[in-house]
Amino acid sequence: MTGGIPLCGTIVINGAKNAALPLMALGLLTDQPLALEGVPLVGDVHTLQEILEELGTSIMRLHNYFVLKTHRVTSTRASYERVRKMRASILVLGALLGRCGEAEVSLPGGCAIGARPVNLHLDGLRALGVTIDIEHGYIVAKAPKGRVRGGMYEFPKVSVTGSMNVLLAAVLAEGESCLKNVALEPELGDFITCLKKMGAVIEREGSTLWIQGQSSLGGAQHKILPDRIELGTYMVAAAITRGNLLLENADISLVMAAVDLLRKIGAVVEEVTPNTIRVMASDALEAFSMRTGEFPEMATDLQAQFMALATLGQGTSEITETIFDNRFMHVCELIRMGAHIELEGNHAVVFGQKRLMGAPVMATDLRASASLVLAALAAEGTTIIRRVYHLDRGYEGMEIKLAQCGAQIQRLTTQPEQDELLVVRA
Ligand code: EPZ
Repeated sequence: MTGGIPLCGTIVINGAKNAALPLMALGLLTDQPLALEGVPLVGDVHTLQEILEELGTSIMRLHNYFVLKTHRVTSTRASYERVRKMRASILVLGALLGRCGEAEVSLPGGCAIGARPVNLHLDGLRALGVTIDIEHGYIVAKAPKGRVRGGMYEFPKVSVTGSMNVLLAAVLAEGESCLKNVALEPELGDFITCLKKMGAVIEREGSTLWIQGQSSLGGAQHKILPDRIELGTYMVAAAITRGNLLLENADISLVMAAVDLLRKIGAVVEEVTPNTIRVMASDALEAFSMRTGEFPEMATDLQAQFMALATLGQGTSEITETIFDNRFMHVCELIRMGAHIELEGNHAVVFGQKRLMGAPVMATDLRASASLVLAALAAEGTTIIRRVYHLDRGYEGMEIKLAQCGAQIQRLTTQPEQDELLVVRA
């Protein structure tokens, strides 16, 4: 192998960011405490914490728990200043409608990975009797008579947070609702489990949900499921550095598409215990063909990381992105490190190289940043990654976890949201 230190050691996977965010929004639905175990300490969680606190939620950290309590909602307006930082903050729309029958939430706008409209969230809420106007960049939503009513909505396209947003309102609606073609992503399953603990009445059959609206919900205690994207990222880290990583708090059933692909191209992936996985690789891996899709297919949130792996594969790989329209921002940066990638629309052809070279690169979004770190771990020489605050939005202490497994990685500045640098030497 040219360049790169094989990573060896143990990494503990955090609770899932993409489950923690909607679960935190559940704190708005009740005046009772909601105790969430395993909330990752990442940027997006802090952003949502600030939004919820502005709306009247008090949040305390007790050991490994976040305890949220919304005795009274003090404001039903989520401002552009906060919402623009993170699209998932749109989840307070459904929650405020459920609890208060009204909400004013800034439209989130586009982001680095594509247009990302919220039309399905709004159509689903309209089906519950909510009137929605767009005024000065804000979604102004009101339920007649102050309470959402039950309704029926079939999502014309699967949306993870869209399904959650409509469900947030439906659980406190007057009457029954039926939501069809909801997401099958495990984070929605975790969300429903917690809602049921709070007293919501929900029946699920595949992608159809029946909801019996309640007049109030209670508190709950809930452990967040492991982060399958963090897990998949470290699985690729083991493979790309030809290392040997033991991943704990790792549920293999959440990442089977990634496991199958890694095994097919020559990595060893073993389920050591029901929540521990070992990933090992010793030679350059084979080229592959990969297509992102809805769960249980390959997650779009792992596309950039697998592309980093393909740049060092034996042969030509093909990667098709089907979920987002502009999720190849990492390509130009990987090319700066010596990768050979050709793009055609939502399809990338990656010509495997014998080596990558360290270079100064720029992180553009969360998963793109992760792919640059992975490429840097396997590249010859030093890579300097700018704007790693993107990384911190979704990965807790990535450089610490990697350094504990032998990576030479160092953060140079620690001012949040500045032009932070991560230096990786191989
Ligand atoms: C969630 O985003 C995740 N975010 C994303 O993870 C993930 O990439 C995505 O699901 C797909 O798995 C959170 O859970 C917080 P969608 P979400 O609504 O819910 C289109 C990460 O890196 N669409 O399922 O916003 C949309 O444009 C992040 O952690 C509409 O057209 O995604 C996309 O093409 C990034 N209208 C597709 O549906 C809508 O109203 C799926 O988006 C909503 C979505």
